[in-house]
Amino acid sequence: MKKVAVLVGSLRKESINRKFAEALGKLAAGRLEFHFVELGDVPMYNDDLFPDVPESVKRLKRDIETADAVLFVSPEYNRSFPAVLKNAIDWGTRPYGQNAFAAKPGGLVGASPGPAGASAGQNHLKSVLNVVDVVLMGQPEVYFHYRPELFGEDGSVTDEHTRAFLERYVSRFVQWIERTSEPKTRAQADAA
Ligand code: FNR
Repeated sequence: MKKVAVLVGSLRKESINRKFAEALGKLAAGRLEFHFVELGDVPMYNDDLFPDVPESVKRLKRDIETADAVLFVSPEYNRSFPAVLKNAIDWGTRPYGQNAFAAKPGGLVGASPGPAGASAGQNHLKSVLNVVDVVLMGQPEVYFHYRPELFGEDGSVTDEHTRAFLERYVSRFVQWIERTSEPKTRAQADAA
């Protein structure tokens, strides 16, 4: 089963994006294995830390490198995406030539408490993901208006319409990973 490194752009315990990501993980169970990447202890990017790379940074890079795909789940902060995600992306792409994201199949979704569904934030993030060589699935777009009544006690999606919509996302993402998986990294592609 393909392993997906999930990067959630909110650190708070009650994050709707975290809950949304977990619900997607439940829907995808048996087809994709979600691994939630810990971002909260990763220091702000600083070149000077390279002589003695922090464990949290090593772990972040390893989690991305060993995954078959990445999934970004992003809130919108001030019409962009949160610094926690930009920081993780910046670490992931360095040292120069060791970009953990290179040629990784990727997905992007996001949730907000209002109907705009983090769309502006996601669109900023899209442009960055292109630059860092994530092979991003363009459709379907998921600008998710989070409402607690769409989910059950265990966090799974209970609303039928929402479930069908997200099921379509998951099944397309499974196909996308299959189609775009080889070669796994740009370095492997260049070596082939
Ligand atoms: C927000 N929020 C927000 N929402 C939105 O739709 N557009 C925006 O530009 C912003 N800007 C913004 C800035 C900052 C600093 C915060 C903390 C919040 C509200 C945001 O959508 C809401 O707090 C979500 O619940 C955040 O996602 P999590 O933490 O619940 O996953």
